[in-house]
Amino acid sequence: MIDLRSDTVTKPSRAMRQAIADAVVGDDVYGDDPTVNELERTVAALLGKEDAVFVPTGTMSNQIALRTHTEPGDTVVLHEEAHIVRHELGGAAHNSGVTLAQLAGPYGSFTADQLRASIPNPSAALPSHMFDPVTLVCLENTHNDSGGTVWDLDQMQSVLDTAAELDLRTHLDGARLWNAAAASGTDLADLTAGFDTVNVCFSKGLGAPVGSALAGDAATISRARRFKQIFGGGFRQAGILAAGALFALEHNRERLTDDHLNARAFAESINESELITVDLDSAQTNLVYFEADGADELAAECLARGVSMLAVGPATIRAVFHMDVTADEASNAADTVKSAVEAQRLTSGS
Ligand SMILES: Cc1ncc(COP(=O)(O)O)c(C=O)c1O
Repeated sequence: MIDLRSDTVTKPSRAMRQAIADAVVGDDVYGDDPTVNELERTVAALLGKEDAVFVPTGTMSNQIALRTHTEPGDTVVLHEEAHIVRHELGGAAHNSGVTLAQLAGPYGSFTADQLRASIPNPSAALPSHMFDPVTLVCLENTHNDSGGTVWDLDQMQSVLDTAAELDLRTHLDGARLWNAAAASGTDLADLTAGFDTVNVCFSKGLGAPVGSALAGDAATISRARRFKQIFGGGFRQAGILAAGALFALEHNRERLTDDHLNARAFAESINESELITVDLDSAQTNLVYFEADGADELAAECLARGVSMLAVGPATIRAVFHMDVTADEASNAADTVKSAVEAQRLTSGS
């Protein structure tokens, strides 16, 4: 089976399991798990931030960020297809009592002008207490639902400059920031500069079994630690997991470009079929979204032929490339998709 459902399906390698087995641990809630502390220091340094807090999941990391930066009743500006909007199950309202002002834009991006236009403009007749208080703007890089796309650095900077001018806090959902750095050849710290907090995940392309971190300045991360505890994230001998994350950071970042090459080759290959459409401009990192009629049926047919993918819409399928998929498997997967879509056409008689 070639499992392309997500980059979260990777299994820890033997060497990673050994690092996990050898981890020196303590009680993270008391702050004395040395491996967690080492991971937090390492991540903060990589991202150019003062501190970081290790948490179980990217969702918890984003949710802690929302709660850390806002008060109930605040409004958060972000892209309409952000993970926080689409896949965190109303957590922003549930956990933080905030509303989400959603912006549209190509490939998960929006402009500084859109951000400015989303901020209320009080006047003498309509004073500020009559408007939603916008306090936070969130960006996502790479942008999952847009195809793993990378934010343009200049556009991101102009959004950040405008956020600073408007006195807004800023959060970056960098679940796959490692991929953005690898694809754009940009230093991680340059991708995070100007953000108050950054979420990164170790359990996606990097191949660790569990874990994410939220990085930022010391005061913000100190406040975030409080919400980690409130949200039930005090996970005791978490050094077992931090060891996997440290191993992943050290050994699995450089190879991410292999996943990008495999994804690109797969995208170009299936795009040869007249029954499949791929927006090749979106195939920038390790995610490939493609359009084909009858996505559920096609995904089922591919599964029967040994390739597992997610039908994410009536005519949309997602395939994700990761460390447990070789270049040959990526090529075989593309051939399987093309033959399955042909077989589907013959069966339906179209
Ligand atoms: C962009 C983005 N943010 C956050 C998350 C949440 O991560 P987790 O699955 O660890 O909760 C994901 C998961 O795929 C994601 O793609």
